[in-house]
Formats: sequence, C-alpha cells, structure tokens
Amino acid sequence: MRVAIVTGGAGGIGGAIIQRFLELGYRVASIDLPSERHVDGIIGENLIQIALDLRDLDQFEQTVARVVNHFGRVDVLVNNGGIVGSNADDGFGTLGNWREVMAINLDAVWGLCKAAAEHLARSSNGRIINIGSINSEYPSPGGGAYPASKHAVYGLTKCLAFELGGQGVTVNAVLPGAVETGMTRSHPSFESWSARVAACSAVGRIGRPEDVAAAVAFLASEEAGFITGHGLYVDGGLHLNLVR
Ligand SMILES: NC(=O)c1ccc[n+]([C@@H]2O[C@H](COP(=O)([O-])OP(=O)(O)OC[C@H]3O[C@@H](n4cnc5c(N)ncnc54)[C@H](O)[C@@H]3O)[C@@H](O)[C@H]2O)c1
Repeated sequence: MRVAIVTGGAGGIGGAIIQRFLELGYRVASIDLPSERHVDGIIGENLIQIALDLRDLDQFEQTVARVVNHFGRVDVLVNNGGIVGSNADDGFGTLGNWREVMAINLDAVWGLCKAAAEHLARSSNGRIINIGSINSEYPSPGGGAYPASKHAVYGLTKCLAFELGGQGVTVNAVLPGAVETGMTRSHPSFESWSARVAACSAVGRIGRPEDVAAAVAFLASEEAGFITGHGLYVDGGLHLNLVR
C-alpha cells in the first residue's frame, strides 16, 4: 500500500486530498496544527494525524521517521499547508507578515522535501506534489508575501524535479485558482468576490477542494511517472483571463 504525507490535512483542500487518497487505498499521515479536528494519534488503520507546526523545521526529520516507523515507507509527499497572510495595501505589508508567510508557505516545503527525499527515493514511484497557486505565476493586488511565496514554491518544484529525477522521484506543483475553503470563505465579501471570480473563469464557477484532490491523485499515481517539474493549473481557466 502506498503511503502519503499530506500537510494542512485539517483544511479544505488537504481534507479532500486525504479523502481521495484513502478512497484509492493509500495510507495517509496528515500534518496540521493541533486542534479538536486534528489531534496527534492513530485515527484508523490507514490514517494517522500528526500535530505539528510547519514552522518547526527542526521537527521534520523525526516526523517523517515517525511516519516510516508507523507505515513502513513513504511514497508521496503533498505540501499543501499554507496561509494567505495579511492584506498588504502597499504591496509590502509588515516584515512579521512576510516572515510568517515565507516560513509556512515556503520554508516548510523546502524542509519537508529535504526530510522526505531519501525515503521517497526508496519508493519505486516517489512523488512530491507542492500546492502552489495561480499566484505562482501571476501577482495578486494587495497580496504582499503570498504570491512571492507561491512563485518560489513553483521555482523550488522545478529545481527539485531536476535534482531528484535520477532517484525516480517526480516533483510537480498543482496551481489552484479560487477554491471554496476556509481560506477563501474568510474573505470579507466572499459571495460577491466568488461570483466575480467565477465570471472571470472559463467554466463559470470557482473550484471545489475535490477538483484539486483529483489533480493531486493523478500526479501521485504510477501512470504520471513521466511528468515532472510541471505546474498544473486547476482553476477553471481563470489564468487565461489574467493574460487577456
Ligand atoms: N482556497 C484557495 O482558493 C486556494 C487557491 C490557491 C492555492 N491554495 C493553496 O491551497 C493550500 C490549502 O489551502 P486551503 O484553501 O485548503 O486553506 P485552509 O485554510 O482550509 O487549509 C490550510 C491548512 O493549513 C494549515 N496550516 C496553516 N498554518 C500552519 C502551520 N503553521 N502548521 C501546520 N499547519 C498549518 C491550517 O491549519 C489549515 O488546516 C494552501 O497552500 C493554499 O495557499 C488555496
């Protein structure tokens, strides 16, 4: 049975990815902050939850080792946990916001890839899938650190694809547009904002977490073994409008 680590597992997209993996017969280790919904322990035969702050990079090696001890292997790492940070009206925001967004959205991706790489190389189909964003290639007004972090995640994805390809590990990014989750629902005028975004997309709706999970499942599969260093838009064609 293939084993996947998914960060941000308590969130909208992370939850859908975990659900999809479980349906496909994977064993899953979910990483997220401790909460009522996300404890630290065994949830079932095929699911463990690990309570970890993604800013604690010095915990990553032992966290991956814990997954290997529990399930015997790691085949897939999905770096999904992330934050938007504060809106930066001037495009800069505060240094504190910049550092927090970079720590969670970028440093943690680097750190977990590093900690998991040797284990993924032992899998016959090792996979890293980083959740970037439409903001991995396009800016967002008032976005501040967020688009910068997501551009960097995509850049790191391409570099690691090259570095790890010889060990049989593919590294790809999934680039969602707007997806209805806690992250977007916290938008002060979610209904009108999502209607506007939907109207700008090609398919006329915003995304569902399951849309992203389906793309992740494909990139994690054995049949996707010749795809690496790729950024796969899952945005209903929203990025086409951004370049029009
Ligand atoms: N929702 C969207 O429209 C959208 C669009 C593009 C990209 N994304 C990306 O998708 C990913 C998932 O976002 P989502 O929409 O499901 O949001 P979400 O807020 O529902 O989930 C994010 C999860 O990350 C976890 N997290 C945040 N900081 C953490 C930390 N320090 N340590 C451990 N866990 C932490 C949160 O607890 C949460 O469970 C993010 O990387 C986000 O940037 C989302």
